[in-house]
Amino acid sequence: MRFYLTTPIYYVNATPHIGHAYTTIAADVLVRHHRQRGEETFFLTGTDEHASKVYRVAEQQGLDAKTYVDRIADDWRELPRRVNAQYDFFIRTTDEGHKRFVQEFLQRIYDNGDIYQDVYSGLYCIGCEEFKSESDLVDGLCPEHGIAPEHIEEKNYFFRLSAYQDRLLELYDERPDFVLPRFRYNEARSFIEGGLQDFSVSRAGQPWGVPIPWDQGQVTYVWVDALINYLSALTYAREGEDLRERFWPHVHHLIGKDILRFHCVYWPALLLSAGYEVPQQVFVHGYLLLDERKISKSLGNVIDPLDLVDVYGSDAVRFWALRSVSFGHDGSASVDALHERYERELANDLGNLVSRTTAMISRYGGGRIEPGPRNEELATALDALREKLVARFDAYDLTGGLEDIWEVVRLLNRQVEAKAPWQLAKDESKTDELAAVLYDLADGLRAVAVAVSPYIPETAPRILGTLRQPVDLALEQVTYGRTVDTDGIQPAQPLFPRVDLPTAAA
Ligand code: MSP
Repeated sequence: MRFYLTTPIYYVNATPHIGHAYTTIAADVLVRHHRQRGEETFFLTGTDEHASKVYRVAEQQGLDAKTYVDRIADDWRELPRRVNAQYDFFIRTTDEGHKRFVQEFLQRIYDNGDIYQDVYSGLYCIGCEEFKSESDLVDGLCPEHGIAPEHIEEKNYFFRLSAYQDRLLELYDERPDFVLPRFRYNEARSFIEGGLQDFSVSRAGQPWGVPIPWDQGQVTYVWVDALINYLSALTYAREGEDLRERFWPHVHHLIGKDILRFHCVYWPALLLSAGYEVPQQVFVHGYLLLDERKISKSLGNVIDPLDLVDVYGSDAVRFWALRSVSFGHDGSASVDALHERYERELANDLGNLVSRTTAMISRYGGGRIEPGPRNEELATALDALREKLVARFDAYDLTGGLEDIWEVVRLLNRQVEAKAPWQLAKDESKTDELAAVLYDLADGLRAVAVAVSPYIPETAPRILGTLRQPVDLALEQVTYGRTVDTDGIQPAQPLFPRVDLPTAAA
């Protein structure tokens, strides 16, 4: 099995914020999970650099566009690193390899007769980098960015999207899981049914972008340039290797709901025109809202995820983002909620369990663990967890996956209380029972560490290390009784130490 996952490529007109981190975190969790299943994975992220708004910001700063993007690209490379996302390639649309590929791709569409010249006269929202109709606006403003679109009139090259309506509808009929969740599939499908209009794939009078191969006076429309990154990257990410053979079309796009039309309608049509297979799946997630508002620069309501990572660590931020808001839907999150989850779920439910377990193994078991009779309740719970996780991840239900894992964490906490090892330790005739309880706690925690490792990849190996277990993160290890006999277990340091609620960020 092959699993190629992409994030959207981010506009570099400003620096990263928690909303961007959200997509990157979710993507990383997904890829790590598929790796646990033994699949061959590839994870692509990067930056979208040829936008008009990027060009304008550079102008405002008195820099030429390339100098500006080269400077800010480092901030964007830092984003995945700060949230501990392990990408395989970071694409920049200003890469020579990408630009060359965009031109080849456009030429194929042109040669297939799907491009013609016409005049575009209408509106353009520089926030969305999108041509708009009056019906897209609310009180004359773009509802997404709260700004008035500009009127433009230019001679452009148009793509015959209208010619692809039937083929797209066939695709949607044949592949009911082409777009997930279902309500997004319906949204995309009804947009197609409503009738498709040809759209401009070029911009005139702007020097910043990939030149149209047959007309050097025009550059490629930034959205077309950007979408093609998902393919172009595979042609030059690994020198001397064309990864398209391995990973196309096993591609899954993870996107926010604001960019659904581009990915679910325009992109498959462009691919069909250029003679490529369409992607396997598009998953559309909702917004992470802060104070009920979308977090974004233009609304001036920004929390820097890098600040939160500095205070709580990347695992806590990853956990909070996916636990607070049901993945796929919009939802509010706050710094208070992050703090609360950190204390209650990470430090208390999980961290304390590790501390208590290792302390008891050290104190009552001399640091040694050995299996006793099979704990049926735990064994059944772990088998169920393994199976549930596969189903959750196939449905991109990252929030549900965490709930399933936490059920086992709670089960282990209940077993500690019910079996009270500190009582057993007082009774010499209960030595075997005590040993079995300690083994089961260690084994359950080992399995939880493996299960939760995609979400909190820094902490999971630490738990395994504390239990003196090998760091084997294969999903099949979420099975009862895989703990290897060991001695020398010491009381663990707190996994999630106390943190004061940061007031500046709240
Ligand atoms: N450059 C385009 C994407 C091109 S992909 C071929 C773009 N960039 S963006 O930087 O504006 O947004 C990138 C992603 O971040 C989008 O999926 C968007 O939905 C996501 N998010 C930005 N703010 C967000 C939240 N507050 N919450 C969740 N995701 C949001 O669009």
